[in-house]
Amino acid sequence: MCGIIGYIGKKEVIPILLEGLKKLEYRGYDSAGIALVDQNKIIRRRVEGKISALETSLKKEELAGDYGIGHTRWATHGRPCEENAHPHQDCTGAFIVVHNGIIENYLAIKETLRGEGHNFETETDTEVIAHLIEKYYQDNLEKAVLRAIQDLEGAFAIAVISNHDLQKIVLAKMGPPVVVGLGEEEYFVSSDLNPLLSYTQNIVFLDDGDLAVITPSGAEFFDFSGNSLDKKIDRIAWNPLMIEKSGYKHFMLKEIFEQPQVIRDTFQGRISLDTGKIFLSEIGIDEKRLRDVRRVVLIACGTSFHSSLTGKYFIESLAGIPVDVEYASEYRYRDFILDKDSLVVTISQSGETADSLAAMRAVKEQSPMTLAVCNVAGSSIAREADGLLMTHAGPEIGVAATKTFTAQMAALVLLALYLAQIKGNMDAKTSLDLTQELQRIPHKIEKILHQADAIEKLALKFKYASHFLYLGRWANYPIALEGALKLKEISYIHAEGYPAGEMKHGPIALIDDKMPTMAIIPKDRVYDKTLSNISEIKARLGYVVVVADENDKDIRSKVDEVITIPSVYPLFSPFLTNVPLQLFAYYIATFRGADVDQPRNLAKSVTVE
Ligand code: AGP
Repeated sequence: MCGIIGYIGKKEVIPILLEGLKKLEYRGYDSAGIALVDQNKIIRRRVEGKISALETSLKKEELAGDYGIGHTRWATHGRPCEENAHPHQDCTGAFIVVHNGIIENYLAIKETLRGEGHNFETETDTEVIAHLIEKYYQDNLEKAVLRAIQDLEGAFAIAVISNHDLQKIVLAKMGPPVVVGLGEEEYFVSSDLNPLLSYTQNIVFLDDGDLAVITPSGAEFFDFSGNSLDKKIDRIAWNPLMIEKSGYKHFMLKEIFEQPQVIRDTFQGRISLDTGKIFLSEIGIDEKRLRDVRRVVLIACGTSFHSSLTGKYFIESLAGIPVDVEYASEYRYRDFILDKDSLVVTISQSGETADSLAAMRAVKEQSPMTLAVCNVAGSSIAREADGLLMTHAGPEIGVAATKTFTAQMAALVLLALYLAQIKGNMDAKTSLDLTQELQRIPHKIEKILHQADAIEKLALKFKYASHFLYLGRWANYPIALEGALKLKEISYIHAEGYPAGEMKHGPIALIDDKMPTMAIIPKDRVYDKTLSNISEIKARLGYVVVVADENDKDIRSKVDEVITIPSVYPLFSPFLTNVPLQLFAYYIATFRGADVDQPRNLAKSVTVE
């Protein structure tokens, strides 16, 4: 939910910290701050608001430092304001901390420390960490940090500096992500990869229970007992250009337009164009075990929950295996029943969503096969699952998930076909036909993207809408949910997604001339049923926009507005029907002047519960 950054090396510190924080801003942006060490003096500057406000404030002074840390905040404890902004300090100002996570027992710690004479200046949980380090410090910063974190309950990724133990950044991880970038005589600390890609591709991903000590001569790693660790250095393929806007007004728009390539990249090397055979041995689960799978459980949150719902239709229809789709935040507390032939798949683009990670860990205690579908290599969920199926969407900067949703559907349809093939549930011709249809999807999406101007024009009509109903059936029911989520999370219009068949069971009472409906009605097995729902809405003066097949000539006379998609194999229509809804939400949000890439109250990765 927050972003932490740190740098130690020969370059000017402030620009690196600021640029890094800008690339982390999508993780949280209600306040920000940096702390530098200039020889043996600590300089701390914090602001309420975005990184740009911090940059403006810093420009008013001639500041410099030898190394430093920074933070961009998504408030959990304590209002978004300057005094609650990180970095936080102890009573003496000698120990400085930035933190991502939640300290569950901070009030008890605060009480104890107050009783020992410590004075607090903020409402935050984080501040207790600085005072604990002050309390335990003797002559070595990492030893004081190791002792301090023993008192903490909850989740933390922290970076600590002090002018008592100079030229040193100490990191500790339990929960939220933190990575170390190894440059040429310069070292970086970050919550994720994006700020580091301009400087290095050599990355160490910290695991829970890891501590790191970064100095001008390098990085050393320890466990929480102080034992030295030999950590793997990953070489990351992403390049800096992938996180620039490349001429688009917003990252979200760029990422919507990247979807055809994202599908190609996610399919790349995993489908034989000649035979339709799927190659997924990379996932690292023995084919024999997968052949014995009798049940699949998909767990996720938010948009990833919606892609999981499309995965249900893919796997049930193609592989003939029953599938349950569960909200991770609910499943983790359930008395769920799994057995050895249950395959549990956790879908998470960031690989760091706290509820999804916790749910997967709970599942592993019952030891069925766990598979992760992730977009970030080295993320916690990616590393802890038995098997891994990576999406190749590249970094997604817009807080609203778009291309990673499509990439997840691509990965899940591959998984469905793979399971079908290893279980012998699909003949060679069907495999070839279906994979050839999949290969045509990217071009079909490009055709839809060419309608962007028309969709923008339509969106203008709904700039002042207060509500929206999204309807879909069968494989497009998840798209109704996802379309509604996109609209509400970036335009702040209340929108609900519903299975169209549910209309008669209550929601139709909402229909009048002030409640517009978006209905998804491709040519599929439920076309006629969905058309009936549309007629019932029109009979009650509802305004209906549809996403329909470009060859459907009848629909135009029955609705108010039509957005068309190319004809497609019905089961794969979610790949296409979703794209107009992303653009529709995007343009309405821009007309409303919303902060599309960083919507209010949201963060890209929900790493706290
Ligand atoms: C969707 O646009 C949001 N960004 C949010 O619902 C997101 O999908 C959810 O938090 C899950 O994130 P994950 O895929 O990284 O686990």
